Amino acid sequence: MPRLKIAIASVAACAIALAVGAFLFAWSGLYSVAASRGHWAVLEVILEFGMRSSVRTHAIGIDVPELDDPALVERGAGHFQGGCAPCHGAPGRSSSPIVHAMLPEPPDLAASAPSWQSEELFWIVKHGLKYTGMPAWASQERDDEVWAVVAFLRRLPQMDAAQYWTLASLDPREQDIPIRSLAQGGPVGTGLAACSRCHGLDGAGRASGAFPRLDIQTADYLFAQLQAYAAGARQSGIMQPVAAELEVAEMRRLAEYYAAQRPAPAQIPAESEDRLLAIGQTLTTAGLPNQGIPSCNSCHAQDPALHNPLYPSLAGQYAAYTAQQLALFKSGGRRDTPAAEIMSVIAERLTAEQIDAVSLYLARLRPGAVERATP
Ligand code: HEC
Ligand code: HEC
Ligand code: HEC
Repeated sequence: MPRLKIAIASVAACAIALAVGAFLFAWSGLYSVAASRGHWAVLEVILEFGMRSSVRTHAIGIDVPELDDPALVERGAGHFQGGCAPCHGAPGRSSSPIVHAMLPEPPDLAASAPSWQSEELFWIVKHGLKYTGMPAWASQERDDEVWAVVAFLRRLPQMDAAQYWTLASLDPREQDIPIRSLAQGGPVGTGLAACSRCHGLDGAGRASGAFPRLDIQTADYLFAQLQAYAAGARQSGIMQPVAAELEVAEMRRLAEYYAAQRPAPAQIPAESEDRLLAIGQTLTTAGLPNQGIPSCNSCHAQDPALHNPLYPSLAGQYAAYTAQQLALFKSGGRRDTPAAEIMSVIAERLTAEQIDAVSLYLARLRPGAVERATP
């Protein structure tokens, strides 16, 4: 039967071609595994469909026990706060910005739980979801615990923040936790926002310039920046999650604490060419009117009479940090706060050499110093 043979041979040839093609595609590295890129829209639909179908099929035959027992709901809530809320968020508290960048992003369960049957929720929570970051239940023998979480998930959509807090017995954070502990250990139960790890307890940052000094700034400026990070208006994958951990009152207290530190003297950068320093001094004290660049001092001077509390101090700040921020203003990486627009216009007019020069010059100034134009 030559026709059947030809058919079989063509199918086989197609299969081999497909396999080789798939291998070559994988080998080429053209498919992006970047979580930042998202999936192709079609793939997204297929993945969601596949996931839902798989859960539906695997949940067949699971018997749902009585889920109304308040103790069950409470036990579920207790676990949810520690085991699920960090990824999925909870009433009155969204998850960390680090988690928002996961692919797929863990959904808000208050919104998505109603789209599942109880037995499906049970299956997901017990077994987790492959390739997503959704973990399986740590102890596969304890179905009773998984049902407690399901009982809680059934209630979650009707729950407001106050009810959730009572259920998960979360105390509102004590506002009078000693400020040193706040700066050193972060808010209760989190180590993420321990400022001193990076900025020091005295706010002097690191001598390498890896982390900026906070001790030279006003409380108003520090507070405004923390709020901007928390709201995502100032972007930094390092500071945004930290700020998102803080309550507004804690931001205020930390801002006041760091602003009250006595500024350490400037760390003089080792080698700085005189030529660069001269350029830096001109920019700082006089600006370059013919390039449309006002003097930095006209806004950043520390003279209290001249100083707007929302304008940061630059004198004594690490050169690497200052240069980095200027580059960000210039490239558009720091432009979403109202005040940043003022700086973007200026930074766009600075050359790379001028940025280095002014950063080096400013780093050598004694914090709090006001440099007047030299005649
Ligand atoms: C490390 C982060 C992480 C933790 C911890 C986590 N999840 Fe998930 N979860 C995910 C991710 C990511 C998804 C998204 C899967 C998808 O969309 O394909 C998910 C999906 C789910 C879903 C399916 C929701 C939907 O509509 O797609 C449920 C239900 C769920 N999680 C419940 C829980 C519960 C309950 C806990 C705690 C016991 C928990 N998760 C802990 C990351 C997590
Ligand atoms: C993991 C290290 C790390 C931790 C912890 C950390 N910071 Fe930061 N912080 C940074 C870095 C890096 C920057 C610069 C980010 C940028 O480029 O925007 C920064 C910037 C800042 C700024 C802006 C400074 C300026 O001159 O504009 C403030 C304010 C700040 N941090 C406050 C805090 C406070 C308060 C805490 C504790 C709640 C804290 N930081 C914890 C690393 C950290
Ligand atoms: C017209 C007023 C104005 C002038 C002139 C000005 N700046 Fe600024 N600058 C600002 C404001 C306002 C901010 C705060 C932006 C924000 O909150 O996002 C700022 C922020 C900065 C920052 C960020 C500091 C930090 O701690 O993160 C740097 C660096 C900076 N300016 C450098 C300079 C330099 C260098 C010059 C001179 C070439 C200069 N600025 C001139 C208004 C000005």
